[in-house]
Amino acid sequence: MYSVTHNADLTKLTTFGTPAGCGCLVEYRDLDDLRRLAADEPGLLSGEVFCLGGGSNVLFLDEFYRGTVLRCVGEGISVVKGGENGRARFVVQAGLPLDALVGYAVGKGLWGLENLAAIPGRVGGAAVQNVGAYGAEFSQSVVKVNGFDLDTLQPVSFSKEECAYGYRQSVFKTPGAPRIAIYEVEVELSRVRAPRLGYAGIREALSDVPEDEVTPAQIAEAVRKVRAAKLPDPAVVGSAGSYFKNPVVPAAVLPAIEESWEKFCTRQGAEHLSLQYHQGADGAVKLSAAWMIDKAGCKGFAEGGASLWPTQPLVIVNRDGTATAGDVVALQRRVQRRVEEAFGILLWPEVVQLGEDC
Ligand code: EPU
Repeated sequence: MYSVTHNADLTKLTTFGTPAGCGCLVEYRDLDDLRRLAADEPGLLSGEVFCLGGGSNVLFLDEFYRGTVLRCVGEGISVVKGGENGRARFVVQAGLPLDALVGYAVGKGLWGLENLAAIPGRVGGAAVQNVGAYGAEFSQSVVKVNGFDLDTLQPVSFSKEECAYGYRQSVFKTPGAPRIAIYEVEVELSRVRAPRLGYAGIREALSDVPEDEVTPAQIAEAVRKVRAAKLPDPAVVGSAGSYFKNPVVPAAVLPAIEESWEKFCTRQGAEHLSLQYHQGADGAVKLSAAWMIDKAGCKGFAEGGASLWPTQPLVIVNRDGTATAGDVVALQRRVQRRVEEAFGILLWPEVVQLGEDC
């Protein structure tokens, strides 16, 4: 059965930990709960609704969100047929922490999710955000996303193609997209060896294991170590992970960025280092936001209780638990201004911001 809490405190339901509350919090487990909720309390779904996963990628701009917050708390995993040719398929409830799914998969020796170890958040949020790290994206393992349409009040399924995945992007994040409460995700993993060790630091962390013997569990462990060395532990320091996206731009604009950067270095009397970027598809390049923030001189920036994490300045942290959303946004703007001054491009938050601008 679903549960309804009026005037709920959400502060502890987000990893940022900035003050937040809502008019109504509804926690559901599965499709039956959503159907019952729609039948019993249609008014809770007809107004403004926000679907919250693990709260690891969201910032409530207003301290009180007037609408309904829907949160899936079902954490089940069930095996389904259809995983032929060394594949294994599972239906996973959207409320399962992603890291629990990674642990389950590597425990069975299955390949596909090991590079996503230690990412905070839940499976439903991972399917919306297309979380990615160390050369893997969650979408690579998604077969289908099952949700409940909050307007038609009917169940609806999205194939992987219909999810329209891209870098930190999906149909569920597209403006004007249907309002969907996700309740489960079907994933497909592989029994066939497919180690992804290309990302800096992972191979090195596994230097004592021959490459043809490495297991998914060992890769997950290496990823945990690499993450722990540079990212804040969400159990200790509030943050929403990377605050900004790495900008993806057409290669044709690189000379303009380069020119802006060179002039900035001259003005600052600083050494002019070459831009850091990766080649992407279709003539696009992905620039490193962390590198730009660092080289533009933002390290050490702080506003109220919000500051940049010293070893990964792409991450804004609630350093002593006192940050408000206003502090975070003030810091965001200061970083954006400085990076724009240096490189002529605007960094875009990857964190979902909810409510009125503060
Ligand atoms: N760098 C600096 N100075 C620093 C830190 C980093 O110049 O102080 C440079 C380094 O040269 C490094 C580069 O920034 O090579 C990139 O850093 P990192 O390897 O940490 O990757 P990222 O592109 O900054 C992305 C994801 C992370 C994910 C890592 C690893 C985004 C927005 N972020 O960060 O995801 O863990 O790659 O795959 O794509 C998240 O989304 O919350 C998240 C943590």
